[in-house]
Amino acid sequence: MELKFPNGFLWGSATSAHQVEGGNLNDWTEWEKKMANSLSHIADSKKWPDYILRNYPNPLQPENYISGRACDHYNRYEQDFDIAKQLGQNAHRFSIEWSRIEPEEGKFDEAEIEHYRKVIQALKSRGIEPFVTLWHYTHPSWFTKRGGWLHPEAEKSFLNFVQKIVSEFKNEISFWITFNEPETVVRHGYIQAIRIPQERNIFKAFKALKVLARTHNNAYQLIHKIIGDKAIVGFAESLVFFESYNRWPHNLLAKRILNWYRNKQFVPMVIRNTDFIGLNYYFHSRIRLNPFISWKWFQYNENKLGVSDMGWEIYPQGIYEMLKILKKYDKPVFITENGIADAKDEKRVMYIKEYCRWIHKAIEEGVDIKGHFYWSFMDNFEWSDGFWPRFGLIEVDYKTLERKIRPSALEYAKICKNNSIDN
Ligand code: BGC
Repeated sequence: MELKFPNGFLWGSATSAHQVEGGNLNDWTEWEKKMANSLSHIADSKKWPDYILRNYPNPLQPENYISGRACDHYNRYEQDFDIAKQLGQNAHRFSIEWSRIEPEEGKFDEAEIEHYRKVIQALKSRGIEPFVTLWHYTHPSWFTKRGGWLHPEAEKSFLNFVQKIVSEFKNEISFWITFNEPETVVRHGYIQAIRIPQERNIFKAFKALKVLARTHNNAYQLIHKIIGDKAIVGFAESLVFFESYNRWPHNLLAKRILNWYRNKQFVPMVIRNTDFIGLNYYFHSRIRLNPFISWKWFQYNENKLGVSDMGWEIYPQGIYEMLKILKKYDKPVFITENGIADAKDEKRVMYIKEYCRWIHKAIEEGVDIKGHFYWSFMDNFEWSDGFWPRFGLIEVDYKTLERKIRPSALEYAKICKNNSIDN
């Protein structure tokens, strides 16, 4: 039986500037250089399967952690979009790199604006709807050096950039995503201390998240002021489907707290100022606290369908549960990211099909889902993990920069072209 998706459903894949373009100069570029050696040493103490170590670069090599020329998508976007078209994708999500547009505070680089104009043109001329993300993890170095999101001028600076970009592309772009995963950025930066600015300060974390929420709300208003009603503006957030392993009170309580923090902070602060919810869905977590052995929560996963190369559980039903939870907000939803690191391309077809079947079930049960973006269009620079995780529908050879269409991409193409999936 065929499971049909609604007419006009958008099918595509996503990338972000720093992860694919190459040649960026932003706060991440500086951080990578500082961290590359220590990240490769940390990797040295872990066990890696041969098929990961055989690839270039591998996690033991410092160059794995430096984005450098990445996929050189900055120069090869035309070819790349030819592939997206060939694969039947009718939408594409990418980000405009703030540090390229405003390398110095208040000075906009017109040549870079023209570059993105060509990128947008290249998509539109291929019949692919562009989805622009205005902020995907990176900042101009001046912004971070000045104090990042905790500096009193942070919101104003970001809105200046938004004003500029949106005015430039108001006739070309309908779909705008203000922020990608603000909660992740704040948690990694101010709680887990694993990314910029590597602090552990819960108060700063909450403060930064509030600033980001307020900035989203004002950016939403600003974009509508510039473009009017035809702009469709949202955010993308990574939400987690939490369950408790059993009915024991400490597990139930831990689940409540984590759910409150991960899923109920940012979204309620911005829900009145959004035309859609962008769901980045990767994680399911079954909470089982064991205070007697170590005071650590962990996910008790049965892993029936296995895990990705990064050890992330494959649990397709989770996306359905999350979508059902989002129904209460009564907003259209785009799946702005969902995908798997799978260098051997053995699980990707199953992953895509299973998640899409559960998405279809959510649609049948009344969730207003408008589109799906596989993460990622091509292999890319996976932040502090570097290049080794292979999320792409397209394989990238980082020595030659040659692109190869993975077999799973062809299966996804069938879904995109037919707007349906077999059951
Ligand atoms: C981010 C991407 C990242 C992906 C896989 C998302 O959280 O938006 O930039 O590559 O997850 O980890």
